[in-house]
Amino acid sequence: MKQATPAAVDVAEFVARRSVGQSLEAPFYVSQEFFDLDIEAVFARHWLFVATDAELPEPGDYVTVAIGPYSIIVVRDDNEDVRAFHNVCRHRGARILGEERGTVGNIVCGYHQWTYGVDGKLLHAPSQAPDFAPSCFSLRSVHARTVAGLVYICLSQTPPEDFDEVAAQAEPYLAPHNLAKAKVAAQIDLVENGNWKLTMENNRECYHCGGHPELLCAYFPTYGYGEQNLPAVLRPTYERYLQADAAVRLTYDSLGLPYTLVEELDTRTTGFRIQREPLDGAGESYTSDGKAACKRLLADFPTARLGRLAFHTQPNAWFHLMADHAITFSAIPLGPDRTLVRTTWLVHADAVEGIDYDLDTLTKVWAATNEQDALFVARAQQGVSSPAYVPGPYAPSEEDVEAFANWYVTRLRAYLSDTERQR
Ligand code: FES
Ligand SMILES: [Fe+2]
Repeated sequence: MKQATPAAVDVAEFVARRSVGQSLEAPFYVSQEFFDLDIEAVFARHWLFVATDAELPEPGDYVTVAIGPYSIIVVRDDNEDVRAFHNVCRHRGARILGEERGTVGNIVCGYHQWTYGVDGKLLHAPSQAPDFAPSCFSLRSVHARTVAGLVYICLSQTPPEDFDEVAAQAEPYLAPHNLAKAKVAAQIDLVENGNWKLTMENNRECYHCGGHPELLCAYFPTYGYGEQNLPAVLRPTYERYLQADAAVRLTYDSLGLPYTLVEELDTRTTGFRIQREPLDGAGESYTSDGKAACKRLLADFPTARLGRLAFHTQPNAWFHLMADHAITFSAIPLGPDRTLVRTTWLVHADAVEGIDYDLDTLTKVWAATNEQDALFVARAQQGVSSPAYVPGPYAPSEEDVEAFANWYVTRLRAYLSDTERQR
């Protein structure tokens, strides 16, 4: 018997009827239609964190980034600026660079050897007609900019203009950690078996932090609760947090390090949140006792006890910056139920593995935490894929999950109304 073709998901209908205060309906997480919409409405129109300066230390160093059907080359040019281009040859469209990273003198298409400079200009196209104008065939550029060592790209020709304001607010917090001068100590790619929004939602709450025993050695799991909603079991931890917070604020003030929470997760096009706060234990880093994992600090700090600087940007990134190292996270959708989570550990460029830091100690907490999160995300994906799933309520401590969902739905609505207008 012939199987009925499943009806296409009416994305506009689901977006229009989304209820605030609860998780999204199943098609947002499981359908190809929403995956395609997310690529166009979110990932192709907003600023995405895709790499660090430290991954591109020299001119010609590049990474390629796959965003749905797009492939982007992010490369350091001869002026040491980071540039980005579509990885599509201007001759007959071949994918130019096939590797995830590497170093090039020029960018050469392997099909008919069209050769581009790292500034995207076409330098050489063999055997063309005499009237051929190479200047008309530069690589198509993609907006790229760095914020204190973090590389963002935007595929839209008219990127959200508020990114400058976000960068201006975040840079004073980020810059003291010197990430532009750091080096990559480790990078781990993990493919989570879940929709990218489940990855992000999971990141935006600590309601599930009981499932992270390694993390809780250093991390205060009171994130998102606030005084009123604190469960009794977290009360002693919260008291410890308050004491650590008072102590660390004195340090921040004496060093002139900004620490106040700025939270604009769903109130602007480039949603973000930034805050400096204490860590538990020795208060220095993400290790089993909270002590620094790297003896050589990222900057000339007089103490390693700086807690962490937490920075979140919508749609796809979060960061932890400590005195001794920093960790960056990006989430890139691979399919409706697959997401690449790339974690990068940065240390001072002169820190020496085996002398200043032990790689296992440096990466242990977050490598374990990521694996645990991947299981939570896979479990969530399995659940929302069941016909029995109905959206459930966000707890008060999940306010940043809700802010993420609010931001996301707002961005979809903006896209859908723009495309409607253009019809
Ligand atoms: S498609 Fe790239 S040189 Fe022909
Ligand atoms: Fe987690």
